[in-house]
Amino acid sequence: VRTRVLSIDPLDPDPAVVSAAASTLRAGGLVAFPTETVYGLGANATDAAAVARVFTAKGRPSRNPLIVHVADEADARALASSWPPAAAALAARLWPGPLTLVAQDAGRVASAVTAGGDTVALRVPAHPVALALLRACALPIAAPSANRSSHVSPTRGEHVRADLEGRVDLILDAGPTPGGIESTVLDVTVDPPRILRPGLVTPAAIAAVLHRAPSSLASDGGPSPSRQPGALRSPGLLSRHYAPRARLILAGGDAPRLAAELRRAGSRVGLVTAGTAAARLPGVETTSLPLEPAAYARGLYAALRELDGRGVDIVVVETPPEGEAWMAVHDRLRRASASGGVE
Ligand code: TXA
Ligand code: MG
Repeated sequence: VRTRVLSIDPLDPDPAVVSAAASTLRAGGLVAFPTETVYGLGANATDAAAVARVFTAKGRPSRNPLIVHVADEADARALASSWPPAAAALAARLWPGPLTLVAQDAGRVASAVTAGGDTVALRVPAHPVALALLRACALPIAAPSANRSSHVSPTRGEHVRADLEGRVDLILDAGPTPGGIESTVLDVTVDPPRILRPGLVTPAAIAAVLHRAPSSLASDGGPSPSRQPGALRSPGLLSRHYAPRARLILAGGDAPRLAAELRRAGSRVGLVTAGTAAARLPGVETTSLPLEPAAYARGLYAALRELDGRGVDIVVVETPPEGEAWMAVHDRLRRASASGGVE
C-alpha cells in the first residue's frame, strides 16, 4: 500500500482533507487519525474486510477487540442493545472525552470488532479532527491505537509513520496528541461499573458522576465473569502491552545511580527522570518529564520512542509519585516494564 500523509490543523481541520479521509474510510480503506489521547488506526466498523485489514496492519491478535469511535451518544446507543443509566450519565458528563464504555453489543458492527464477544467498546473522542472525520463519514470507526501490536502507542504523526507506513492508506498528521496515554475503559454491563483499563479519566471523575465511592469501580485484576468465551476480558490488562523495544526498569530508588551502574557494566542505557533536571551522566541518554501527571502522560510515549530510536538496550525510569492522578501513568509503566507476557 502507498501511504499518503496529509497534514491537518488540530484545531481547525481543513474540510477538504477531512472529506478525503472520509471517502477513504467509506471505500474500505484504513485511515490513521489523531484523537485527544493517542493516534487511532481507523476503519469502517461495519465493514468486515476493512476491519480485518486493521488486525493485519497492526499484527494484532484477533481475540483482542477494538474500540468503536462515534460522533455522539445517540450513535453510541444505536450500537448497544442496552444503555444503562450509568452509561447515560457518564456520556452526558464526560463525552466527548477519553472514556470508553463497554456495553452490550447490538450486533451492528463487524464481529471481528468485538472479537466475537457480546460486548462492544464505545467512545466519542474529543479531538476536533476525529470528530470532524466521524461526522463527515457518518460511520462508526473501529480504531485501535495506531502502533504495531505491543509497541508503545503513537502520540505524533511520525510515530504512526514509523510503525504503519506502507500498511495504511492515509495518515492525518495533526501534530502531538494532547492526552498522551489512552482512554479509560469502563465496563457498564455490570453494576457498579468496573474499570478495565485506567486512563486519562480518573476513578474520582467517574465516581463523582455516578455518586459512588471511587474504590467501588476498581478493577481487582483477578478473573471476572467472562461473557466472551475465547476472548480476553480486556486484553489491555495483560502485561507487556505498552512496551518499548528496550528493556524498561522502573527504579524505585536512585534512578540516575542505577543508570550509571548499568552503563558501567556495559549496557547502552537511557534514563527518564521526573521533575528533576536531567543531570549529565556520561554515556547515558537522558530525558526529563515534568512532575505533573497530565504533562508527564503527554510526553511519556514520545520519550520512550525517542530513547528506543537512540538505540539503548535498557531504559531506567525514575518512579513518579503515587496518588490517583498518577494511576494511569503507573499502570502503563508497570506494563512496559513487565518481562514477557502476551501481546
Ligand atoms: O485512547 C484510546 O482508547 C485509543 C484511541 C485511539 O481511542 N484507543 C486504544 O485502542 O487504546 P486499543 O485497541 O489500543 O485498546 C483498546 C482496549 C484494549 O485493551 C481492548 O482489549 C479493550 O480496549 N476493549 C475493546 N473492546 C472491548 C470489549 N468489548 N470488552 C472489553 N475490553 C475491550
Ligand atoms: Mg493499543
